[in-house]
Amino acid sequence: MNDEERVIGAESSDEDEAVELSLRPQYLAQYIGQDKVKSEMKIYIKAAKQRDEALDHVLLYGPPGLGKTTLAFVIANEMGVHLKSTSGPAIEKAGDLVALLSELNPGDVLFIDEIHRLAKPVEEVLYSAMEDFYIDIVVGEGQTTHAVHVPLPPFTLIGATTRAGQLSAPLRDRFGIIEHMQYYSVEDLEKIIQRSSMVFNTKIDPEAAIELARRSRGTPRVANRLLKRVRDFAEVKGEEAISLVTTKHSLHLLEVDDEGLDQTDRKLLRMMIENYGGGPVGIKTIAANVGEDTDTIEEVYEPYLLQKGFITRTPRGRSVTQKAYLQLGYPPKDEK
Ligand code: ADE
Repeated sequence: MNDEERVIGAESSDEDEAVELSLRPQYLAQYIGQDKVKSEMKIYIKAAKQRDEALDHVLLYGPPGLGKTTLAFVIANEMGVHLKSTSGPAIEKAGDLVALLSELNPGDVLFIDEIHRLAKPVEEVLYSAMEDFYIDIVVGEGQTTHAVHVPLPPFTLIGATTRAGQLSAPLRDRFGIIEHMQYYSVEDLEKIIQRSSMVFNTKIDPEAAIELARRSRGTPRVANRLLKRVRDFAEVKGEEAISLVTTKHSLHLLEVDDEGLDQTDRKLLRMMIENYGGGPVGIKTIAANVGEDTDTIEEVYEPYLLQKGFITRTPRGRSVTQKAYLQLGYPPKDEK
């Protein structure tokens, strides 16, 4: 395997990943949605290239599945540099980080997914690497212990996290560029679905694409996953293009409702309504009742339910809204 393949293929060789990779846009102009992030990044990339410098470190944060990794690859590609990809939990020791950093060429991107999960000693090595492009490492044992000062090539760290608040302040402060990824509009998801269908060599009726977009919880990863399943149903039925009827039928079987809520979303809302009179309920109680950990509730389920107005956050916990009562077929909630 040559260097280039290793750099790009670093994440996984698994088939699903391969599909994801081919779905990925290569340039900002092909990247759909996130207009604010794109227009800002375009300027920063252009300026860094004009100065012939490495791009400043970039922190991308937002709910999972919104294309943070995709965007990191696009940024590296636009800069004309290589990207090396890893994740917070994968870097166990400071030495692992040193090995990654010393392989970089000037201007290259090191992408660290789930950067909030870095071990503290690793994070501390990252400070001087990010700020002044050097690392001090201790080598040898006992009497022969000594510090070695290792200069690094100027590089760009792109960190991705689901919640910027989970990052320590010293680490957060070392990112010159901080971008918040938002849920996608139905229009943008529809474009992503149309684009993915072309990559899959599948036709989809426009109204089917809109329906899928509406039910994909603002998330391209969900849209692409649902598209693959709906395509299976359409192909088995012998449809020339994925129809609206087949889309609705398959989403019904997949238990995705007309607002894009899945089984876990509904279980969570139902539990809050039936066991706690609609709330307020603390996040730990919610997590324990639906059998998920609190991080997953806070990072995956809650942001979407909040955004769609199915729950509200109060100082005493989360409460279910009238809209959720109606969506789940309950009589309107008693206003206390
Ligand atoms: N595939 C996944 N996310 C995408 C995006 N934002 N633009 C284009 N294709 C994508």
